Amino acid sequence: MKIAMVGSGYVGLVSGACFADFGHDVVCIDKDPSKIEKLKDGIMPIYEPGLDALVESNVKAGRLDFTTDLAQGIKDASAIFIAVGTPSRRGDGHADLSFVYAVAEEIGANLSNDAVIVTKSTVPVGTGDEVERILAKSGTSHRFSVVSNPEFLREGAAIGDFKRPDRIVIGAEDDFGRDVMREVYRPLFLNESPILFTGRRTSELIKYAANAFLATKITFINEMADLCEKVGADVQDVSRGIGMDNRIGAKFLHAGPGYGGSCFPKDTLALLKTAEDYDSPTRIVEAVVKVNDSRKRAMGRKVLDALGGMDAARGKKVALLGLTFKPNTDDMRDSPAIAIAQTLSDAGVEIAAYDPEGMEQAQPLMPKVKMCENPYEAIEGADAIAIVTEWDAFRALDFARVKELAKAPVLVDLRNIYQPDDVRALGFTYDSIGRS
Ligand code: UDX
Repeated sequence: MKIAMVGSGYVGLVSGACFADFGHDVVCIDKDPSKIEKLKDGIMPIYEPGLDALVESNVKAGRLDFTTDLAQGIKDASAIFIAVGTPSRRGDGHADLSFVYAVAEEIGANLSNDAVIVTKSTVPVGTGDEVERILAKSGTSHRFSVVSNPEFLREGAAIGDFKRPDRIVIGAEDDFGRDVMREVYRPLFLNESPILFTGRRTSELIKYAANAFLATKITFINEMADLCEKVGADVQDVSRGIGMDNRIGAKFLHAGPGYGGSCFPKDTLALLKTAEDYDSPTRIVEAVVKVNDSRKRAMGRKVLDALGGMDAARGKKVALLGLTFKPNTDDMRDSPAIAIAQTLSDAGVEIAAYDPEGMEQAQPLMPKVKMCENPYEAIEGADAIAIVTEWDAFRALDFARVKELAKAPVLVDLRNIYQPDDVRALGFTYDSIGRS
C-alpha cells in the first residue's frame, strides 16, 4: 500500500518512518526544500531517539522517500495523511488551521486516484467536516473519504509509542474510510494493539480530551505536592498510594515544575476555545491552564527562596540544569525553564545553564543566560543549582566536584530525582517538590 504523509515535522516524520518500517511504501512531503534535502542526506530536522536509524534503513530498503512535490507525492497513494502544524493562533488561543486547509486544497487540486484523506494533525472538532467540504469543492472526480486519526506520541519515546500504542483511534464516516485505515494499521493489529472506530467528530474530541485529562492529572498532583510541603507529607508516596488504585492509575502522577511541550499547553487552550464556541464550559480545564501557568513562575520564586529571598538574590548566580520541557528532546516549547529564567533574571540573578540537547533552541528565548559546555561549568561559582529537567546526565552528579565548584552547596531539585536524606548527608541544602 502506498501512503503519502503531507508535513514532515515531528509527527509526520515519525509516523511516515514507522509506516515504512511496517512495510508500506511511504512518501513524506514538505514545502521546505532545505528540510527535504537534508532528510534525503539522512539529516533529521528534530532530535528523536532512534529516528535517524529508522529513516536510514527504510530509505535504503526503498520504502521511504521525500519530496517537495505534493502532486507527485500523493500519486497512487491510498491514504494521504495531513500532518502539518496547528499552532495556537496569536491572540485568541484557537488552533490555527490555515496549514491544514491549505494542504486540503492542494490535495483536492491534485488528486489523481481514489484515496482516504486522514487528519493526523491535532485539529478541533469539525475540522474533518471542513476538509471534506474543501475536497468536495475542488471538483475532484475521484472517490475520497476524510478520516480522523489522532496521534498519541510522546516526544523522546515516539517510535515506541507508534509501534506499540495503547490504542489506535479512527474516526470515519463510511466503509471506504474504515477499510483503507484497517489496511494501513494491519501490521499493528498483528501486535494486538486495540483499535477504536468512532465517528469523526468523536475521534477529534478524543485527542483533546486525552491531553486535557493528562494535563489535569499532572496539575492535580502538583497541587497535592504544594499541600504536602505545607503539611509535612511526601508527594512521591501520595502518588504511589493513589496510583496503585487501578481506577486512578500510576502514570502521569509525577509532581514537577508544571507541564510544557508542544501539545498540552496548546491543546488545553484549543479545547477551552471549542467549549466556549459551543457554550459548554469546561471549568476544570480552565483551572488546570491557570494553575499550570502560575506554577512555572512559582518555581522561579522557589529558586529565589533558596537564595535567601528576593532581596538577597540580587547579584547572585544560579546554575540551571536542563532547559527543555522534558528529557530526550531539544524542544523548548512552553518549557518551565523559560518562566524560571525570566523570574530569576527579573530579580537580578545571573544564570548559567546546561542542557544536553536544548541550548541552541533555548538561547534566543533567554538571551541573558550563559550556555555552558557541561553541568560543572554551569555550577562553577553558583550560589544555587536548580535541576529543571530530569535528563539522565543529571541523575548521578559528582557531588564532591559540585561542592568544590559551587559557591554554596544549595540544590533545588524540581524533578525529585534525588533522595533528600542522601543529598543532605553530603552537606547540601536541598529543596525539592512536595517533600520535606
Ligand atoms: C504529550 C502526550 O503524552 C502525547 O500522548 C500527545 O500526543 C502529545 O503530548 P509530550 O508533550 O511529548 O506528549 O510529553 P509528555 O511525556 O506527555 O509530557 C508532557 C509534560 O508533562 C512535560 O512537561 C512533562 O515534564 C510533564 N509531566 C509528565 C509531568 O510533569 N509529570 C508527569 O507525571 C508526566
